[in-house]
Parts: sequence; structure tokens; C-alpha cells
Amino acid sequence: MIYNKIGDRMIESMTKILNKAKEEKYAVPAYNVNNLEWARFILEASEETRSPAILEVSEGAIKYMGGYQTVSDMIRALVKDLNITVPVAIHLDHGSSFESCKKAIDAGFTSVMIDASKYPILENINLTKEVVNYAHKYGVSVEAEVGHIGGEKMEIAYASPEECVKLVKETNIDFLAPALGSVHGLYKGTPHLELELAKEISTLTNLPLVLHGGTGIPENMLLDGIKCGICKININTELQIVWSKAVRVYLKENADVYDPRKIIKAGEKAIKEAIIYKNKTLGSINKY
Ligand code: 13P
Repeated sequence: MIYNKIGDRMIESMTKILNKAKEEKYAVPAYNVNNLEWARFILEASEETRSPAILEVSEGAIKYMGGYQTVSDMIRALVKDLNITVPVAIHLDHGSSFESCKKAIDAGFTSVMIDASKYPILENINLTKEVVNYAHKYGVSVEAEVGHIGGEKMEIAYASPEECVKLVKETNIDFLAPALGSVHGLYKGTPHLELELAKEISTLTNLPLVLHGGTGIPENMLLDGIKCGICKININTELQIVWSKAVRVYLKENADVYDPRKIIKAGEKAIKEAIIYKNKTLGSINKY
């Protein structure tokens, strides 16, 4: 079912990628994919910086692009056609149910997040366990969330270390996303991360930690986070902003252009520059 071999290269789970990051104390940015071009920009910028590439896709973006199989096959085909040689993981971001994670795994995603954080901890554990049992049969890695990452409709609820330990022990997940004060989308005011909490959870669980809501967090806070066990930093909004800014300028200066390739491509440089800068900052460059 899982077909990970692409020529002589591998599409892999996030396990080796993030265990190496944990050991060598850097973080791998995970970029959200919105369309084919996004996937190409992320792969090419990762290859240029010799950084592992984590392409993560939300359920909404999967629906937008046509479905799980379309996304998985599209990324795999790009890896082959673009001759990408750095490790690549295809990750489901915020899987909301067992069925969603199963669909991703069956389509060839190499990693999934089951986000059962909206449920009480025992339900979160049970659902996460079900996903881990299925995923691990196919060598697919699993991320889970404890507490609530903030967002437009979601209040921040900081992760409890006891709940994190319980979930990790009982489910055998590979990476943990504890809510540390970050939010999805833009911050109102200055972001605040509970990094002592991250350190405590990292020591207690010994798993690579994931930080969601990477957009808008100051560089020094991210670097301090890496010292406290954060190994994967999710970034979506930031790339959307730099891309749309560049496209707006292009359209203003080229009001009569109608070729969609030219319009979408107008944001390529801005996205790639942002990725290269982020990969350098978080230390994931020249690792492969
Ligand atoms: P941002 O959109 O805030 O960068 O967050 C992305 C994210 O955490 C995806 O899971």
C-alpha cells in the first residue's frame, strides 16, 4: 500500500528527520502546502539549502486540491521530476478523525497528526492510540496535541505535563505538540511561549516537540524554544503573506496580465527567500 521508493530516493516518515534534529539541536520547519506551486517552491528551496523538507497539508487544503491521493501522488511526482535528493516527509496537519488519518496513510502520506485535543484527555488518548496502531503498521509516524493551540476560534489552553506523560506512555506517539502559548495565524500583541513548560515536557517525555503557529514568533524566541526541545516548527501564514504581497505588487504593475502561471509565479521568489531564511535561522540547512 505504501510506496515510498522514488527512484533511488525515499519519501520517509518524520521519525529519522526529527530524531536527528533533536540530537543535533536544530528545528525543521514544516511548511503547509496550498497547491502544486507551493509544493514545488518548498521542495526546491529545501534542496537548495540541503534541508529536510516536511510538506504538511491540512484537511481543508487536501479538499481544495482534490483529495488525499492527488496530494500524495503530486508531491511524490514532484520529488521525482525535480530530482529532489534531501529527505521528504508528507504529513497530514491536524487530522481530525481516525478516518482522515487512515485515508492519508492509505494514500501514501508518511506521517500524520491526529488532533484530538478538543476532547477530554482520555478520549484524546483512545483516539490517538487507534491512529498509532494503524500508522505504525505501515511505518507512518504520528504527532498528537495536548492542550489547545490558540487561533481565531480557539482559546489557548497550556498543556499539562502530567497529561503529556500519560498520553505519550499510553499511545506510543512519535512527536508531541504541547500547547505552549502559540496561536495559528497572526498574533494580537507580542507572542508569549512558556518555554520552561516546554523544557519540562521535553525532559519528561523525551520526544521531539512540535511548535504550531510559527508565524510571527520572534527569532530569538524560536531559538530558545529549540534549546527547550522543540524540533519541528509549523509555518503557514507567513508564506501566504509574503506570496500575496508579491503577487499584489506584480498585478498592480502588470494590470493586463492574465496568464495564471505568470501571476502565481510572481510570488515564487518571495516564498523561496522566506523558506531559505527560515531554514538557515532554525539550523536545518546543510544537514544532508
Ligand atoms: P501559522 O499559520 O500561524 O504559521 O501556523 C501554522 C501551523 O501551525 C499549521 O499547523
